Amino acid sequence: GHHVSSQHVRIRRRELQCRFDIEKFTPAFLSIYESLVPVDEEIVKQKQLLLSLRKLVNKEWPNAQLHLYGSCANSFGVSKSDVDICLAIDDTNMSKSEILLKLADLLQADKLENVQALTHARVPIVKMMDPVTGIACDICINNLLAVVNTKLLRDYAQIDERLRQLAFIVKHWAKSRGVNETYKGTLSSYAYVLMCIHFLQQRTPAILPCLQELEATCVVTIDGTTCAYFDQVDRLRNFGVQNNESVARLLWGFFQYWAYYHDYANDVISVRTGRLISKQMKDWTRRIGNDRHLICIEDPFETSHDLGRVVDKYSIRILREEFERAADILQYDPNPSVTLFEPY
Ligand code: GTP
Ligand code: MG
Repeated sequence: GHHVSSQHVRIRRRELQCRFDIEKFTPAFLSIYESLVPVDEEIVKQKQLLLSLRKLVNKEWPNAQLHLYGSCANSFGVSKSDVDICLAIDDTNMSKSEILLKLADLLQADKLENVQALTHARVPIVKMMDPVTGIACDICINNLLAVVNTKLLRDYAQIDERLRQLAFIVKHWAKSRGVNETYKGTLSSYAYVLMCIHFLQQRTPAILPCLQELEATCVVTIDGTTCAYFDQVDRLRNFGVQNNESVARLLWGFFQYWAYYHDYANDVISVRTGRLISKQMKDWTRRIGNDRHLICIEDPFETSHDLGRVVDKYSIRILREEFERAADILQYDPNPSVTLFEPY
């Protein structure tokens, strides 16, 4: 045991040494990032759609509100993504399904296309397409925790631009390599962004602070869960300046971490605390029902919620092989900004 593990440490040490020419790839990664960011025109169209839906919904339910959430509002959305909208309503006379069906009727009557109420989905929604803007849209009911975690992600993104750069490239990699598909046991976009935030909280010097450990300036309670954090992020704009790592260096470190350093058996990544915490502490050491906890990513607000719960014993192997592939490409490949995204 001892001999093997000391050898293992030696191998890891060698891998920690980053290739000397990593910086020369930063321009190529930045131009990939720039090509993924949506243009202003698209943001304007999304806002237009939201405004017209508000009008429509408020005619039927004057007190209801519509909120954007997910990638169109968290600042991690690529060009042409679907728009996620949450309808906040407290109508005690109608069930969720009845509200969804009524909403579907209203949308259909307003000439929106492909209107479909999915009342039995894990998250029940109405799907539709707006023929005016060409935007596809999902509307869910009273999913306010998603609205708040969307704001948390957006607030983190404003602190240091390297978060968006890193997360866009990681999401693009995950989509190209087929590991951004929760129904196949790989991770959601939301999980990847949390992994990036946590990684930047862990750099020395840190690139991101832990907003939930600072004095709370934003406090809301949703279904008994209190969400509290420091949201005056314009006061944190200089937080990461002591650290001058570029996006290529960070990508290398991110994939090294998930390929060779993360302790899958014992650790949970936690944006809430800005640290690693132990599976033991969360009682995530064994499978309970369908929660296997093979890779553990704590939701910042719903702390009993592991975003890695979708991962099973087959998909964990695929994921880890992909992390290793990416780490090795960033370490050795002559053309990492191309090879990284090659379709599988
Ligand atoms: P893309 O559509 O892939 O660009 O990213 P997205 O940010 O819209 O992510 P996704 O469709 O995975 O999730 C939409 C939103 O649902 C997230 O931004 C979160 O606000 C919220 N959410 C909360 N809990 C979960 C969860 O367990 N899984 C997922 N997928 N989303 C969650
Ligand atoms: Mg989405």
